[in-house]
Amino acid sequence: MELNLTGRRAIVTGGSKGIGLAIAQELVGEGVDVAICARNPAEVETAGEMLRRTGRTLHAAVADVTDPEQVGAFVEDAADTLGGIDILVNNAGAASPGSFDSLTDEDWQRDLDVKLFSQIRCTRAALPYLRTSTAPRVININSVYAKYPDPGFFATSVNRAACLNFTKTLAQELGPEGVLVNSINIGFVVTPQWENIRRRRAPDLSEEEFFSQWAAEEVPLGRFGTVEEVSGIAAFLASDRASYITGAIVDVAGGMGKYV
Ligand SMILES: NC(=O)c1ccc[n+]([C@@H]2O[C@H](COP(=O)([O-])OP(=O)(O)OC[C@H]3O[C@@H](n4cnc5c(N)ncnc54)[C@H](OP(=O)(O)O)[C@@H]3O)[C@@H](O)[C@H]2O)c1
Repeated sequence: MELNLTGRRAIVTGGSKGIGLAIAQELVGEGVDVAICARNPAEVETAGEMLRRTGRTLHAAVADVTDPEQVGAFVEDAADTLGGIDILVNNAGAASPGSFDSLTDEDWQRDLDVKLFSQIRCTRAALPYLRTSTAPRVININSVYAKYPDPGFFATSVNRAACLNFTKTLAQELGPEGVLVNSINIGFVVTPQWENIRRRRAPDLSEEEFFSQWAAEEVPLGRFGTVEEVSGIAAFLASDRASYITGAIVDVAGGMGKYV
């Protein structure tokens, strides 16, 4: 399938590792010029060097998506370096396991900031550039828990539901201008985020044992997904082949999520 992405310009937040890095790799592989950001300077630099080897224009910067000023500066610098923005992938985020009893106001606020407000602020900052693009796209990386709540991931469930509403409502508002806004809902995908959860919850289990146990309980396909199983869908949604898709929520979750 020809995605026609060569020469497009994309921002991927949280592009230093995990799903974000895989999406950035997929996009540069399709000929897209890419900007990534994350907080850890060494990881940003390593990811930037790796992506630059493809020969595409690459902007890699340290920026915290919960800080409005850093978001503004990053998006402006990215647009300057790439010569505009066609695609915004709102991917940065972090798992925040916890039940209602265990979560403090600060936990809730932190989770809301990194999940919902990061999408709001990055989109607001990128919109003037997206509006001048011939094929503007916003892709929000969310979670199956948004529609399939789990008390063990209480804040994630509530705040990702808000993120889905953000996707749907924004798709309606920007539809008349041709800006397409979609969400990818992740189930369980092997990334550094999950390795951190394993270390906290079951340090005695190997990665393989830990992932198999979780998958056996929750995932019809019986396994965690890979980052490449997400990145291809992101590239498709960014492409001309998805030109009539907006406000869609695509589950990449191995069948996880008991809803219709
Ligand atoms: N993996 C899964 O199974 C799964 C399931 C559901 C949803 N998701 C969502 O998918 C997205 C990617 O997750 P992942 O599993 O790839 O996580 P990951 O491996 O932990 O990577 C997260 C990325 O986001 C960056 N990031 C985190 N907080 C940030 C902040 N405040 N500002 C800027 N960058 C920030 C991280 O870098 P720094 O820490 O250096 O900033 C890193 O680059 C997240 O939104 C996550 O919630 C993942």
